Amino acid sequence: MSRPSSRLVVISNRVAVPKARGAAGAQGGLAGALNAALRDRGGLWFGWSGQESEDRTGNINVQRGGGVTTATIDLSTRDVDEYYNGYANSTLWPLFHYRIDLAEFENETGRGYERVNERFAESVMPLIEEDDLVWVHDYHLIPIGDRLRELGAKNRIGFFLHTPWPPTRLLTSLPFHERLVRTMLSYNLIGFQTEEWLSSFVHYCETELGAEVEKESGRITHEGRTTTARAYPIGIDWDHFQEQGDSGEARQATQRLLSSTRHRTGMIGVDRLDYSKGLPERIDGIGRFFDQHPERVRDLVFIQIAPPSREDVESYQKIRAELEQKTGQINGARSEVDLVPIRYVNQGYSHAELYGFFRGAKIGLVTPLRDGMNLVAKEYVAAQDPNDPGVLILSDFAGAAHQLGCGGNGALLVNPHSPDALARAIETALDMPLGERKSRYEAMIETVRDDNVQAWTKTFCSDLATG
Ligand code: G6P
Repeated sequence: MSRPSSRLVVISNRVAVPKARGAAGAQGGLAGALNAALRDRGGLWFGWSGQESEDRTGNINVQRGGGVTTATIDLSTRDVDEYYNGYANSTLWPLFHYRIDLAEFENETGRGYERVNERFAESVMPLIEEDDLVWVHDYHLIPIGDRLRELGAKNRIGFFLHTPWPPTRLLTSLPFHERLVRTMLSYNLIGFQTEEWLSSFVHYCETELGAEVEKESGRITHEGRTTTARAYPIGIDWDHFQEQGDSGEARQATQRLLSSTRHRTGMIGVDRLDYSKGLPERIDGIGRFFDQHPERVRDLVFIQIAPPSREDVESYQKIRAELEQKTGQINGARSEVDLVPIRYVNQGYSHAELYGFFRGAKIGLVTPLRDGMNLVAKEYVAAQDPNDPGVLILSDFAGAAHQLGCGGNGALLVNPHSPDALARAIETALDMPLGERKSRYEAMIETVRDDNVQAWTKTFCSDLATG
């Protein structure tokens, strides 16, 4: 049995390498969370450098910085096309976000996905020591645990999925779905963000694989192999985020936002530019609010920070064009010489600046159509002034809704597909009295503070180490 003090080896596609740590909104929740996990616990973080090169010498680039050691490899242009842009982000990502209409099913990219997983496994294997705990992350690398076993790894190996897990009938539309899921039985522990995604996975194992499931313990047995699957909701890096909030940079960001919005209520959204985030639907909801309350156009300014993401994938190019068109339409119809209702910003910002913007904005709008967890929702709450907190409007389809809904007393939960529901929630948030804002904030803050990324890492790693 591994000791809890074993070294941690984290494997993920995206690695926040010291010299290239991106803007917080642009890099997604995974990189920030793993950076925190490794900074606190120490260990090694292995993955893709983010660079393309035809170098086949197997060179591994090791860097140390901010208490984290990273080891990365480059991928060839073909690998990036087939594995990252292809199977991971044009097949698994849309499918896992219930967007079968956007999913492409090409055997070619499937082979590329397996090839790159093989390559990652061969590159990281010599870096893994006997007692290491190995923790693999996300949909890019589902089969890597199985490849590591084939190469002789006897370590405890865990897997965590940051996205939703789709219902069985959706997943079965994926050619070779069984082949993919079977590889997961090589892991000792599999983590999901919520009970909802966990139960879809368990359902698949029971009905498609005919596995035996012990519901209480989460143990799943099939063809002589046993794995354990449980929910481990991820949290934010609370202490680090509060430190950022104490900085001059954060205070300046709040001032910048307040002085530019003046007497109007600032409403903010921060999302990678991804179709799962429900951005055009959000703009429709705001348009509906303005249509229903033209007299309130002067009360509100909406700031949407949306750093572009996965720009080589066609569905991402389309969503960007759609968003630009919708934003332009509303601004064209509703702007005046001294008033622009929607500020649409493509750049990313640091954590300190985001904290400052969140604090200055009295409404946070987090309305994905489907999201594994969504840490922006938690960060918005974390950045609020307890004496005058803002209101979080949150999609019922984000994993975070399970923790922040608080039985109707926390975030305002909405159906992100309905422009009317969004418009109503905006009106409720704008008119909400201070007493109610405080009590909703108080209902949410405990889980945001206590169920943080450190608690997440500790629980997962200790379950992985002890079995
Ligand atoms: C989501 C995924 C992560 C990914 C992040 C940013 O959060 O779950 O695995 O790293 O998006 O996307 P990118 O494609 O830039 O890594």
